[in-house]
Order: sequence, then C-alpha cells, then structure tokens
Amino acid sequence: MDKEFKRTLVTCALPYANGPIHIGHLAGVYVPADIYVRYLRLRGREVLYVCGSDEHGVPITIKARQQGCSPQDIVDRYHGIIKDSFEGLGIHFDIYGRTSSEVHAKNASEFFRKLYDEGKFITRESEQYYDPEAKQFLADRYIVGTCPKCGNEGAYGDQCEKCGSTLSPEELINPKSKLSGAAPIKKKTTHWYLPLQDYEPWLREWILEGHQEWRTNVYGQVKSWLDGGLQPRAVTRDLDWGVPVPVEGAEGKVLYVWFDAPIGYISNTIELLPDSWEKWWKSPDTRLVHFIGKDNIVFHCIVFPAMLKAYGDGYILPDNVPANEFLNLEGDKISTSRGWAVWAHEYLQDFPGKEDVLRYVLTANAPQTSDNDFSWKDFQNRNNNELVAVFGNFVNRAMVLTHKYFAGKVPPCGTLEDIDKEVLAEIPLLKASMEKNLEGFRFREALKDAMGIARLGNKYISDTEPWKVAKTDLDRTATILNLSLQICADLAIAFEPFTPFAAKRLREMLGSPLDWEILGRPQVLPAGHALGEAELLFAKIEDPAIDAQLARLDRIRAEREAAAKAEAARQVVPQKGECTFDEFEKMDIRTATVLEAERVPKTDKLLKLIIDTGIDRRTIVSGIAEYYTPEAMVGKQICILANLQPRTIRGIESRGMILMAKQGDGSMRFITPEEAVCNGAIVG
Ligand code: MF3
Ligand code: ZN
Repeated sequence: MDKEFKRTLVTCALPYANGPIHIGHLAGVYVPADIYVRYLRLRGREVLYVCGSDEHGVPITIKARQQGCSPQDIVDRYHGIIKDSFEGLGIHFDIYGRTSSEVHAKNASEFFRKLYDEGKFITRESEQYYDPEAKQFLADRYIVGTCPKCGNEGAYGDQCEKCGSTLSPEELINPKSKLSGAAPIKKKTTHWYLPLQDYEPWLREWILEGHQEWRTNVYGQVKSWLDGGLQPRAVTRDLDWGVPVPVEGAEGKVLYVWFDAPIGYISNTIELLPDSWEKWWKSPDTRLVHFIGKDNIVFHCIVFPAMLKAYGDGYILPDNVPANEFLNLEGDKISTSRGWAVWAHEYLQDFPGKEDVLRYVLTANAPQTSDNDFSWKDFQNRNNNELVAVFGNFVNRAMVLTHKYFAGKVPPCGTLEDIDKEVLAEIPLLKASMEKNLEGFRFREALKDAMGIARLGNKYISDTEPWKVAKTDLDRTATILNLSLQICADLAIAFEPFTPFAAKRLREMLGSPLDWEILGRPQVLPAGHALGEAELLFAKIEDPAIDAQLARLDRIRAEREAAAKAEAARQVVPQKGECTFDEFEKMDIRTATVLEAERVPKTDKLLKLIIDTGIDRRTIVSGIAEYYTPEAMVGKQICILANLQPRTIRGIESRGMILMAKQGDGSMRFITPEEAVCNGAIVG
C-alpha cells in the first residue's frame, strides 16, 4: 500500500452507449476521477486517463429494435452525446475510445483466445430459452411474461420492474419472446465459464489481507461475495451483437459484455499508445486505479482481476477501486427508464458557463460513503451562498480594490500584523489536509479544505476592511491587498481540480502560475505585478432557472403517476374459490332503474338511490359517489343483488346492492344491460 509508484493509470467505468449520462454517473465516477487526475497532474505526476463507451450488451440491441435501427446506430448516437458531455464539463480523457472499435475486437478476442488455449475456461451445457420462429436464443431481457409475485404481465426474464423482484426466465408465467411473440422453447447450448471459485484463495489474500485500506463499502462487498462462495461465471452469450467468440463451432456466440468491457480499458490504451501501452498495464511501477459506481464493484474487484490473473503475462491489478454509492434526485432514485434524471448534455444547454457549478455541487454532495441527494434548491444555494458569496466575492473585492487604490498593480507587503500572520499560517495546514484527502479519495473533504481557503480570505478582507483603512493608511491597505491577492493565487491552484474553468479564469486575471508547490508560499505574486481586469468568477442563479428545472421534474413525476395509475387499474385479481350452482342460484340478481339519487350528507362516497326493481321501489345506499354524480345516475338501468340482507348505513336502510365492475385501482363502473330491458329481469 505504501509502495512508491512511478505513474498512475486512472480508468473510469465505460458508460453504456445506450443513453446519455446523468448527474448520478458524474457524481459517482467521472467528477471524482477528474478531480483526482487534475490533482496528480498538478503535482507533476505521470498519469494516463482512460475511458470510452461500453457499446455491447443486450439493452443496446433492445433499444435498437424498439427504434427500428441497428445497434451500431444507437451506439454511434450516444457515443457522440456522451463524449461531448464529458468535454463540455472539462473532463478530458487521454482517450475516450469505444468497444465497437476494431482494436478492441482484436484485443478482446485475443484475450479470450489465450485463456481458451491455456484451458482456463470450463464449458457447460445448459438449457436456455430459444425462439423457434426467430431462430435465436433469448437473453433474459428478451423474454416477457407474467410476474409470479405480483401478476404484472410485462415482467422481464430477469426482473419485474413493477414489484422489483429479481426473476429467472423459468419463473415467468406464460413466457413470450419479445422478438416474435412466440412461446419460447428450451434448447441446449454450450458456454464458456471462468471458474471464479479457483481464484478465491488468491482474492482473499490479495484484497481481504492486502487491501484493508480500501473503502469500507468496497471491501465489505468483496468480502460478502467471497464469503458467499464464488461460482463459475459465463463469459459468452448467444447473441448477435458483440465480439464474436473466436473459437470454431461458436457461431452465433459473442463475448459476454462484462467480459469484453473491462478489456476495453486495455484496448483503448493500445489505441492511444500502440507502442508503449504495456508500460501502463504491465509494469509494477504503475498504479492502477478504477473509478466506478457501487454496482460495478464485483466486476472490478473480483471478475476482471481474476481474468487478468488468469491471463498472467505481467498484467497489474488495481491498487485501489474507489467506488461511490448512488446519488438520488430530489429524494427519488435516479432512473433512466422513467426519465428521472438530470442529463449532462441538457444541463450544459440550460446552464451555459456554469460547468463548474455542477462539478462543485456534485463534489460537495458526493455519495462517497452513503447514498446522497441532489436537489435544485441545494444547487442554487451552494452556488449563491458559497461560490458567489464566498469564493467569488472575496476574489472580486481583492481585485476591484487593487484596481481602485493601486492602479491594478500588486501593492507591496509591509510589516505583518498578528491577523496577517494567523491567516498565512492557516493556508499550509489546509493545503496539507487537502493533500491527504485527495490522496485518500475523500474529495468532498478536500473540497471543504479548498473552500476553507476561500472562507479564510473572505473573512480576512471583511475583518481588515481595506476600503476603510484606505482613508487613513495606504501602506496598511497595500499589505492587506497584497496578502489577499496571494490568497487569490492560492485559490487559483487549490480549485483547479474542482472548478477548473473558474480557476483558469482566475489565473488569467491574476497572471499567476499553476503549480501545486507554490500553493501557500509567501509572495508568489511580486509587488508591482500587473493584474488583468476584474471579472466576476461566478454569477447568482435566480429562481426562474431553478423553477424551470423543478417544473420539468414535476411533469415527469405527474406522467409517471398517471402511468402507474393506469397500470394499477389494469391489475386483475385472481379467481375466487369455487361455488356451487346452488349457491349461485340463491342470489337474486336483476335489472332495475334509478329513479332518484342524492348524496348522503356528510359523506364523500355514498349515494342514496331510489330504484325501480320491477317488483318494488326501494332504497339502496351505494359507495359510488366518487365515480358518479347523482344526476349521472338518474334514469340509468343497472343490475342489483336484490336479496342481500338489508343493512342500515348512516341511518338509511339499504335493501340490496348495485353490481359494479371494480378495477385494480379501486375505480368502479356500474353494469348495465347491453340494450334496455324491463326492470326485474333476472340476470344469471
Ligand atoms: N457499462 C458499465 C456500466 O455502466 C460499466 C462498464 S465498466 C468496464 O455499469 F469495466 F466494464 F468497462
Ligand atoms: Zn412483479
């Protein structure tokens, strides 16, 4: 753990190119990785920063089918959107590759082939669902049927999205192929498996004993996987989208997406550095760090390392895997399928010039140790109260006053007073804390340290009031502004990893250098040094911009609720237990007409109806007021259960019951004969 490395290879989880990226992805993976990389570079360390699109897998083929285009069309579209989003947010990878590239196909294929040739896989024959019409094996997601747990008719072979149960296709009632609609049949197929259990002792030693410094969420997940016992994992699939399995007789099979995708990290490195990639992947001097979300832990800490170990040939293993928890949005789980997200590309359009604000808020609220929440109000508050009111305000006061009193030139530093010395002494402490936090992947805390420097400066200038001192003592004013400007120069370095756009503008304004070593050093800006124009670093975000975002989310919520209601209405209750013909015969069901109707006072649900049953006129109290007004009932022909024991409801004797069709959501409609019949006709 304390080993000295010469260089660091940072990878970010390859996002699936089947949709744009959202704030959850950014907060969990890409913003922290970018902070880390910028920090290492700031310290002059050798870094390679690798990412790319994950372009295989079943969801991409499903999306293509839904949209009537090819999987390649889908990944082309989203690869472009995702790549632009990263660039727009200042996340500049050394390479942003794609797993549909030729380099990757060759590399992943070669990787599989070596393991295959060396007998590192086992094969297993199993029975899988097959679509006899489409002549194709069906991925779990391609099978739909009725959920055995909740009755949802649109459950997938791997999951019911209604009740959240994890399913296997065998459990579905009435399974159907999504391809042809045909009932799938079972067919034998052979696949290759990596016998993960063989790597268990080694994984225990390497991680459980050797990497106790890993984050507790990561370490804990690994431990529970290992304690639960590892199983062989299939590395191939029957599918027509992916890297073909490079073995004779494996036609129609591709590498499983989770086998090929992590190899994509290597392929992308090869694409960038065809001659020197091995120094990044096979040298013990290289430190490998994977930034991922928590749902990727098993693949990056168990499966991929086992693959690399099986391959041998000097491949290094991750030195750390700082996985984050999840970010929620306004209290609800982010969901791509339900549209509950803030998309990076839309943010960039809606908030031009505010790339830093999103980076800042996502870091301040990073879901590092537990799930966390993003809210637009918090976003606005952090911008207005922290970036604008503290950081921006401080810099602006120092700049404007220097222009006012010293013609925009850094004034000389005179004798230091206690308050000056105290402030100057704080900065190296905050710097040291920042270093520790950044090296330890505690980005939220590191940002607090950086903000601590801004708070310090802001308080210093408020306490010393150079605009007042200037009336009597220009020398003292010079010293205060000199020190304030030095702190500004510190901020331009300290914030480079977090808010790189503002940090750069600040350095341009100050004409100050970017070098971690000089952060906290006295007199980095020499007296007489000419400053640029004062320019606001951050602008307030007003309510309308926030309200527009909240309104968008309200719309999504309302649509979702309406859809859920419609879905609930469709739910059908199971058949009741048998009844005999005699039991049925006992019930006197007949037609009747409503003569009068009125609400039962002080109730929301009850109507009092006077009806003509063909044999008499009687009163029935019915709980239908939510669905029918009294006026709507008068004159309607209905069906009643006439011989139901009379009951007194709200002091009214009700004789009989109106027959209603009741839907899953509780809503009701009365039953009426298809054509008017006489009152008192027997129904049966
Ligand atoms: N596409 C995966 C996801 O979004 C991550 C793949 S990471 C890699 O969850 F290692 F496989 F590349
Ligand atoms: Zn269900």
